[in-house]
Amino acid sequence: MLDPLKTWKFLVSSLTIKPVDLLVFLLKAILAILTLASISLFFHFAFSNQYIWFSSSIFNKNQQQKFIAVNTSSGRAYATTNLSHVLFGIGGSAKTWNERRRYSELWWRHNVTRGFVWLDDKPPGGETLPLTSPPYKISEDTSRFKYTCWYGSRSAVRMARIVKESFELGLDNVRWFVMGDDDTVFFLENLLTVLNKYDHNQMYYVGGNSESVEQDVIHSYNMAYGGGGFAISHALAAELVKVLDGCIDRYASFYGSDQKVQGCMSEIGIPVTKELGFHQVDIRGNPYGLLAAHPLAPLVSLHHLEYVEPIFPGMTRIESLKKLIAAYEKDPSRALQHSFCYDLKRNRSVSVSWGYTAQLYPYLDTPKKLETAFSTFQSWRTRKNGPFTFNTRPVEKDPCERPVTYFLDRAESVKGDRTLTRYARHVEESVKECERPDHTRASGVKFIGVLSAKLDPAIWTMAPRRQCCEVINGGEGADHLVQVKIRGCHRFEAVTPP
Ligand SMILES: *[C@@H]1O[C@H](CO)[C@@H](O)[C@H](O)[C@H]1NC(C)=O
Ligand SMILES: *[C@@H]1O[C@H](CO)[C@@H](O)[C@H](O)[C@H]1NC(C)=O
Ligand SMILES: *[C@@H]1O[C@H](CO)[C@@H](O)[C@H](O)[C@H]1NC(C)=O
Ligand SMILES: *[C@@H]1O[C@H](CO)[C@@H](O)[C@H](O)[C@H]1NC(C)=O
Repeated sequence: MLDPLKTWKFLVSSLTIKPVDLLVFLLKAILAILTLASISLFFHFAFSNQYIWFSSSIFNKNQQQKFIAVNTSSGRAYATTNLSHVLFGIGGSAKTWNERRRYSELWWRHNVTRGFVWLDDKPPGGETLPLTSPPYKISEDTSRFKYTCWYGSRSAVRMARIVKESFELGLDNVRWFVMGDDDTVFFLENLLTVLNKYDHNQMYYVGGNSESVEQDVIHSYNMAYGGGGFAISHALAAELVKVLDGCIDRYASFYGSDQKVQGCMSEIGIPVTKELGFHQVDIRGNPYGLLAAHPLAPLVSLHHLEYVEPIFPGMTRIESLKKLIAAYEKDPSRALQHSFCYDLKRNRSVSVSWGYTAQLYPYLDTPKKLETAFSTFQSWRTRKNGPFTFNTRPVEKDPCERPVTYFLDRAESVKGDRTLTRYARHVEESVKECERPDHTRASGVKFIGVLSAKLDPAIWTMAPRRQCCEVINGGEGADHLVQVKIRGCHRFEAVTPP
């Protein structure tokens, strides 16, 4: 037993400072202050008169970046994180790779992206994969590890070790290890925009939750879901690989690889840094509502696209994604970003989800309502109408209560670093048309044309604010085509119905 009085005396006596110690302490403090002053003077002269510009081919050529962060551990400045600093680790299997690689090939860039798909065996049909696809590695044998989740698959052990096997390759200049599934689609420029918010010399675990609350309850809210992809900084990976094998056995009852990794994170004491652009897409049905109401964050990833309907009507899954990606490439930062404006002459509301869809309402509705996702999908496991980690609103049966809907039809870059996107009216055969005159007039609008300036990725380092828009042909011209201009909001501007 500890005697509380003795312990207290011991603590007090060890805290007593001798005069010699005090003198040494004061001298050290003065020295530290002088050193700090000279360092800050150095930085003042080095950086006050000019920015250091780093050009990087991954961003738009004309749009040079000026993100510089200070390496806090050494006091050195380091350049923007680019694709060469990212090592991807994709979880795959020999049996499904030939089918699934179509998703990886949508974003993989030969000679630019670094990383591997980790398979359990050689891919069928030969050992050489086309150059459009990530090169493969065969995972180490994992039969010595425990796996006791009765409804899961042992392959989770192999997937959990991808980060360790990637780290142990010892490749040069890797700042981030980014994990994903073989059916994850990454949006690379935006991934970099997000990673550049964080210092890779510190321990970061960046990703997102599942959209389905039932999943977060069963698996964890503290976890970055593996399909949506997650990023582990080099500093964290170095600590993770030391404990990972032990965690795999300790968390043998956990279903997924991402859960086992999170078990380790919990032991190290690192929470997930949630970024809203990572999408696990743990939903069933039509993902329209989810994509059309994207949060104010860059689109980083999409997953499970094989399990939901194609994102554009009348197209295959892969063709749909190519279409979205083609628009994305014109203005990565703006992809799926939402804006609302009113045509006050006609009492209409316009909602644009850039690069994907637009909606025209023959009445003035509040942004509060317009920003809420239409419930076009169900939860992942129980296929219910929710709950999700965000609010939804029902798609009304009455066609007069639904907006006229448009889907991306063209996307072009135009002079002055701007884009023109056009959205064409979509008629759903199974739904009767509303016959109210205001609705019929709105249905007469065949296209919504949207003009916007390319969004500088630097905007994502600032306080988020939805961009504003205005209908620029509110007069007589708007019978067939509504023209909209998206721009930054003015001071004190709000989307307020009169
Ligand atoms: C990324 O930055 C490094 C310097 O940190 C540079 O050597 C490399 O060429 C860059 N890679 C790309 C793809 O821009
Ligand atoms: C940042 O500082 C740490 C510690 O001094 C060092 O190991 C690392 O290489 C530095 N990173 C860069 C990019 O300079
Ligand atoms: C691209 O990759 C190919 C095949 O891996 C290689 O032969 C070639 O040298 C690379 N090109 C560049 C520009 O790095
Ligand atoms: C728009 O709505 C206002 C208020 O409800 C109404 O006074 C006005 O007549 C409407 N305008 C048109 C063109 O329908």
